[in-house]
Amino acid sequence: MLLPMRGLPAAPPRPLAHPHTAPAPPPSLLGPRRRRPSRRLSKVVSYYGLTTPPYKTDALEPYMSRRAVELHWGKHQQDYVDGLNKQLAISPLYGHTLEDLIKEAYNNGNPLPEYNDAAEVWNHHFFWESMQPEGGGSPEAGVLQQIEKDFGSFFNFREEFMRSALSLLGSGWVWLVLKRSERKLEVVHTRNAINPLAFGDIPIISLDLWEHAYYLDYKDDRRTYVSNFLDHLVSWHTVTLRMMRAEAFVNLGEPTIPVA
Ligand SMILES: [Fe+2]
Repeated sequence: MLLPMRGLPAAPPRPLAHPHTAPAPPPSLLGPRRRRPSRRLSKVVSYYGLTTPPYKTDALEPYMSRRAVELHWGKHQQDYVDGLNKQLAISPLYGHTLEDLIKEAYNNGNPLPEYNDAAEVWNHHFFWESMQPEGGGSPEAGVLQQIEKDFGSFFNFREEFMRSALSLLGSGWVWLVLKRSERKLEVVHTRNAINPLAFGDIPIISLDLWEHAYYLDYKDDRRTYVSNFLDHLVSWHTVTLRMMRAEAFVNLGEPTIPVA
């Protein structure tokens, strides 16, 4: 059972966007762009743009360095965006929202070529939005109550998140998800680009466990990377907003929840 998320404190001011990049709306709000022939009649193949983290690239230091964020966001995430746009230029799946594209391309566990890049574009946007400068600490009241109800205590939740992240062999993601049918929070990890949307779960927190996410700052020490994420980076305020949205969408019986 979901506890109501009403009566929460007002939102703090949103951190500044990256100063060198024009802010772009999230893909789910923007949706795929319509093909429009240019004056030279060349084919337009850019459907999704690189979304911007909601803080400066050095704002997560010392727990995530500016160099690590710029490489991760500016190169790896950009590569996924470029890859997705190339796929969509020739894909029959053009025209879906990103969330529907992920679910469709997952193809019941036999992913189509579009799946990997589509899921990674979504996952990375969600990951940056899962953090904030001076994050960590304790969740806000409504979320804390839900965590205590579903895990027994916040300590238990933290232990479960660490255990799940460290037991994943190879690349992937660790998530806090809302199980739609049970209306219960759960920690899960997924391999490679797999996104819990494919199983009908509702993502609440994502943490990137690909080596490119932490090697520059932590080398092979995944434990300290995950621990610092929980203690200093995770945005419990964003989690509160996501829980409120999830509660509303589940109550309405909506099959898909947009990324933001
Ligand atoms: Fe990544």
